[in-house]
Amino acid sequence: MKEIKEVLIVGAGTMGHGLAQVFAVNGVSVKLVDENDDLLNRAQRWITDNLNYMVELGEIKKDKVQPTLSRVQYTVDLKQAARTADYVLEAVNENLDLKKRIFQQLGQWTRPHVALATNTSSFDINEFSAVTAHPERIIGTHWFHPPQITPCVEIIPSSATSQETIEVAIDLMRRIGKAPTRCRSAPGFVANRIQMAMAAEALAIVEEGLTTPEEVDQIVRTSFGFRLSAYGPFQICDQAGADTYNTIYEYLYGKLKREQFKPSPLLKKQVEQGYLGLKTNHGFYEYKKGAAEAMKRERDKKLYARLRLFREEQKTEKKI
Ligand SMILES: NC(=O)c1ccc[n+]([C@@H]2O[C@H](COP(=O)([O-])OP(=O)(O)OC[C@H]3O[C@@H](n4cnc5c(N)ncnc54)[C@H](O)[C@@H]3O)[C@@H](O)[C@H]2O)c1
Repeated sequence: MKEIKEVLIVGAGTMGHGLAQVFAVNGVSVKLVDENDDLLNRAQRWITDNLNYMVELGEIKKDKVQPTLSRVQYTVDLKQAARTADYVLEAVNENLDLKKRIFQQLGQWTRPHVALATNTSSFDINEFSAVTAHPERIIGTHWFHPPQITPCVEIIPSSATSQETIEVAIDLMRRIGKAPTRCRSAPGFVANRIQMAMAAEALAIVEEGLTTPEEVDQIVRTSFGFRLSAYGPFQICDQAGADTYNTIYEYLYGKLKREQFKPSPLLKKQVEQGYLGLKTNHGFYEYKKGAAEAMKRERDKKLYARLRLFREEQKTEKKI
């Protein structure tokens, strides 16, 4: 596996500038490409501001700013930048034809071993396989905004992506401190399927006049959203009880008649097998003897830490 010294990022917008920043902070040289100098100057300004704010927040030392900035080169010449890149990350607008054209060009202009990653939020990675002679080098790496801070990167191979490309992407993400997690390619992947389902329900609640956007935000942030940075949906289901979840779905489906509340066969099977979660020492996870008690203590520790942070945030939000 060749060492990655230079990363090419295509698109210097909302995501692209943050992507360039995180590589540069971690010692990797970056070429950042966009369509004109105004857009590149904007990206340079954003990165400079972000780094200065990181210094203010104590995230990096002041003497790290200039070396980090000097690791990012800005250019409108994609062809030239592609020639020297060891790894490419495409972050142009969510437009399938535009992305396909860029992958077709990258296939011609990059060196043969170079992995070609896309930051698409929704397109099935298999969409890109036909556009180059090198589908084995194309991979989805879906970052989350703001990419310089949010840990997760979904690693999404197409059916043609090589094992080497997958390993290159995962190794690089780990090297810059990210949390790469593999998933299969399908429209929306994992996180956006869940996130968009939640947003659709929030929109429906406001459309039905149940409450306001502000109140929905407040309820989500202070309830299940409060727990979500500590536990995922299956861990939370295990804590609440699969039987309780199943009963809620049955009632909601009966009353609201909406597909998204139709009781899940997977959940029903858990209930039938007695895998109710922490209370039966077995749910979507298995809890060895004594583990349920230890889990509860661990949960309280994590949630009190978040509660302290939440209270601090409440104070500053009131001031703003
Ligand atoms: N914004 C988010 O929260 C978010 C989160 C995860 C993934 N994504 C994905 O990341 C990608 C980029 O999103 P964004 O929010 O940064 O979009 P954006 O509109 O802010 O930026 C896109 C940039 O690409 C540039 N661009 C367009 N055509 C180009 C070309 N031919 N060559 C070079 N640059 C070109 C544009 O000028 C623009 O600066 C999309 O695929 C999006 O779905 C976005």
